Amino acid sequence: MKIFSSIIETKAYLERQKIAGKSIGFVPTMGALHDGHLALMRQAKNENDLLVVSIFVNPVQFNNADDLKKYPQAPEADAKKLESVQCDVLFAPDAKEMYPEEVTVQYDFGDLDKVLEGAFRPGHFNGVAVVVKKLFDIIRPDHAYFGEKDFQQVAIIKKMVAMEKIPVKVVSCPIVREPDGLAMSSRNGLLNVEERKVAPFIFKTLQEARRRRNHLCANPLKQMIINIFESNEQFRLEYFDIVNDKTLQPIEGWNDKVGTVACVAIWLGNVRLIDNIRII
Ligand code: PAJ
Repeated sequence: MKIFSSIIETKAYLERQKIAGKSIGFVPTMGALHDGHLALMRQAKNENDLLVVSIFVNPVQFNNADDLKKYPQAPEADAKKLESVQCDVLFAPDAKEMYPEEVTVQYDFGDLDKVLEGAFRPGHFNGVAVVVKKLFDIIRPDHAYFGEKDFQQVAIIKKMVAMEKIPVKVVSCPIVREPDGLAMSSRNGLLNVEERKVAPFIFKTLQEARRRRNHLCANPLKQMIINIFESNEQFRLEYFDIVNDKTLQPIEGWNDKVGTVACVAIWLGNVRLIDNIRII
């Protein structure tokens, strides 16, 4: 595996690979890698000649300084995991390399970032779009892989790619879960033993929403699920909603022609967890 921290060196190396006719599959990450990340990488490796991974804890997508400070990092363990999926290139820049100047770009995503995560984390998706645009300019991938765990992020990236007319195919990949149903996340490592034990409640409740879909109208179902989340005192619900899978706007009723996804953000102790489940 080649490891680069410099943009110029990364570009030069990948340019040569492209001239040699190699296709590039790219997986951007913030490190503290787990099997969810590795599933994206295995798919990227299968579908392309070269697997390129970036690890960069992107300061401009953190709307909370404390969250950035406590974001987990595990460089040595990450390197081993990258070798295990036969990663060809790791790009791991520092913040000065990525942002020599202050970021001023302001994307307009319309209604897409006014809901769910976007409503609770102001500036977050602008920061995500800024870094992914920069990474795409450096790596110039043929395919880029993102997890549906961050459902809204995939929609934002697709919109940014369309707006910027970037020639990359964005591939979205299913959520990878622990055996007890908890969606894998770098943040799970921040849970204490007791919190980790109760965390599967989140996915169990989302499954309950899917089970009840045929028995309740959309709004009463939403209210019922909100009540379940709020009645568990170990958790603090930030939002739960059932949304159109394309526009991400809350649905008012069922329509078999419209795909819907139930999305949740919830605090367990000091850890904010998100998850989602397809309803239709
Ligand atoms: P990070 O949280 O490290 O996630 C990197 C990629 O792994 C994202 O596409 C995310 O959706 C995916 N992923 C995380 N957990 C997953 C799971 N349990 N199953 C499937 N995929 C999962 O998302 C980011 O980093 C950043 O916002 C980034 C896109 C790198 C921009 O900074």
